[in-house]
Amino acid sequence: MAAQNLTPHRRRYRDIVEVIGNTPLVELPSVSPKPGVRVWAKLESQNPTGSVKDRVARSLILDAEEKGAISKGQTVLEPTSGNTGISLAAIASKRGYKLRVVMPDNVTPERTQLLEMYGAEIVYSPGNQGSNGAVAMALELAEADSDLYMPYQYGNQANPDAHYNGTALEILEELDGQVNAFVAGLGTGGTLMGNGRRLKEELGDAVKIVAAEPMQGEPVQGLRSLDDGFIPPIIDLSVLDRKIMVTNRDAIIWTRKLLDEEQLFAGVSSGAIARVAHRIASEMDEGNVVFLVADDGWKYLSSGIYTKPVDEIANLDSTVWW
Ligand SMILES: Cc1ncc(COP(=O)(O)O)c(C=O)c1O
Repeated sequence: MAAQNLTPHRRRYRDIVEVIGNTPLVELPSVSPKPGVRVWAKLESQNPTGSVKDRVARSLILDAEEKGAISKGQTVLEPTSGNTGISLAAIASKRGYKLRVVMPDNVTPERTQLLEMYGAEIVYSPGNQGSNGAVAMALELAEADSDLYMPYQYGNQANPDAHYNGTALEILEELDGQVNAFVAGLGTGGTLMGNGRRLKEELGDAVKIVAAEPMQGEPVQGLRSLDDGFIPPIIDLSVLDRKIMVTNRDAIIWTRKLLDEEQLFAGVSSGAIARVAHRIASEMDEGNVVFLVADDGWKYLSSGIYTKPVDEIANLDSTVWW
């Protein structure tokens, strides 16, 4: 009988929090424009609640516990467009805390359901103000009530540290240190800062750190344009080698391409990021390009982006239908 191909890491865990991380790195030949360039997706969608933010939520809660900043039963407050809230809701609940999230009122109903499912309380901010509106409202609420603990992922080093001490080390190990480009979306900046710093420390200029940014005024759920006026405090722009803009339409086309050609059911930010990974790969002659799949597609199903004609979807105002 052929020997079984066992994964190198443990597969038995004490609880769901311990399952976070050690996500698969999968080669996607259809995203590669030339044979010498290999494009790999780090499937953060495989985390327990379906997104990269499980790593961050665990890091934020453990950091607060280590600092003695929260006690059992206390309420954690966080502004989030969805994924961090869902992850925090699961992890806070597992570790004995309550969670209140501030979220724009125009996200898909799946997000609301997931948050409620994990026991979070939701406060809505005006959808037309996007994630910046949620941040402003959460800061006001935290100021008014000193019993609330706000991890504030936009300004908390525990966010990039989750990647510096986790995602980046996994990628380095999975590719034996041969990483030529790392591409990710920019939301809080945690993914790009944490991975970028570690990869630069290990590989220097041999690795390029590339941000996929939505065009200003064309929001892609989970991502932000640095030109929209708010630069999260954890962002150090010197870590980035390049920023490449993606249109909403291209984000959708590439999300569909991942599904049709690689059978990868990913969220819309992954389409935007794959588009940029392809462009970077086309400028190289050989090497490895890694891009990050931040979440899976379940939360976006009701928007119709996987089934409706692209023209019908791309022309909709994404601030309203996501
Ligand atoms: C779907 C999705 N993609 C990408 C990102 C960007 O990640 P980061 O906050 O680490 O910049 C986020 C974060 O909010 C997200 O929810």
